[in-house]
Amino acid sequence: MSDLIWLNGEIISMADARIGVEDRGYQFADGVYEVIRLYNAKPFTLNEHLARLHQSAQAIGISLPLPIEQLSREIHKLIAQNNAKEAMVYLQLTRGVAPRNHQFPDQPKPTLLFYTRDLPPLPHPGEATGAKICSVPDERWKCCWIKSIALLPNVLAKNHAIDHGFDEAAFVEGGLVSECSSSNLFAIFGNTLVTHPAGPCVLPGITRAAILDLAPQVGLRIDERPVRESEISNADELFITSTTREISWVSHYNQSTITPRCGQQTLKLHQILRNKVVADTQ
Ligand code: PDD
Repeated sequence: MSDLIWLNGEIISMADARIGVEDRGYQFADGVYEVIRLYNAKPFTLNEHLARLHQSAQAIGISLPLPIEQLSREIHKLIAQNNAKEAMVYLQLTRGVAPRNHQFPDQPKPTLLFYTRDLPPLPHPGEATGAKICSVPDERWKCCWIKSIALLPNVLAKNHAIDHGFDEAAFVEGGLVSECSSSNLFAIFGNTLVTHPAGPCVLPGITRAAILDLAPQVGLRIDERPVRESEISNADELFITSTTREISWVSHYNQSTITPRCGQQTLKLHQILRNKVVADTQ
């Protein structure tokens, strides 16, 4: 894989890429981002990711410097030039460089960049160890549907989890579980799949949307509502989703064991997600 980056319309070596010190992304976290997974050199659910990018950018008043269709073509161009196959595309859009001032610049020149990074193959959930999740207070802003680069609360939560022997942190407010530091959370009770509605405290995950779309095919009924922390230990199965992890089954939530191995419903959901990945990327 080559180490090329697309930066403001040019494809250059990563080592030559330069961002101004006064880029508002660097100084104010004034920007948004996307992470897109490639399978067999093909971006999965690219249109959905670009639609969410557009929505996030619009929400904070940044104009995409090129139309979505052209951006899609440029992403494909970089993937080919990097010879990226099993990898991710990291894309970031900021309000650009301007003298430091909380007020927006008069004529912002957004900084847009994207590059690829190889990813290791994902283990089949039946063979993977379960994720251990701990809860943390949700101290984030109330616009979590915007995929903002201001990720410090998420970073702190993740590191708190790791420091305490867990793998992921779930944000909880008023006894309700919203999502995790970098994944959406689902609980299965009987034949009902429960997940918090996307909105102020939950990112509309692209993997989440795919799962909600596919779940009826395995006989699951969907109930989009917050999961109460008090009911989590009674869940039949618990799993988390994201672009980079697909589906990870959850073995522990705080001190409770949820399941000792990946549950049957989670395995079925994983299988239909894999079928979609294969159908869309071969
Ligand atoms: N994170 N919730 C949060 C807070 C996230 O950061 C992510 C993804 C998700 C899952 O969304 P999706 O299915 O669209 O990847 C939910 C990415 C992968 C990251 O920051 O690396």
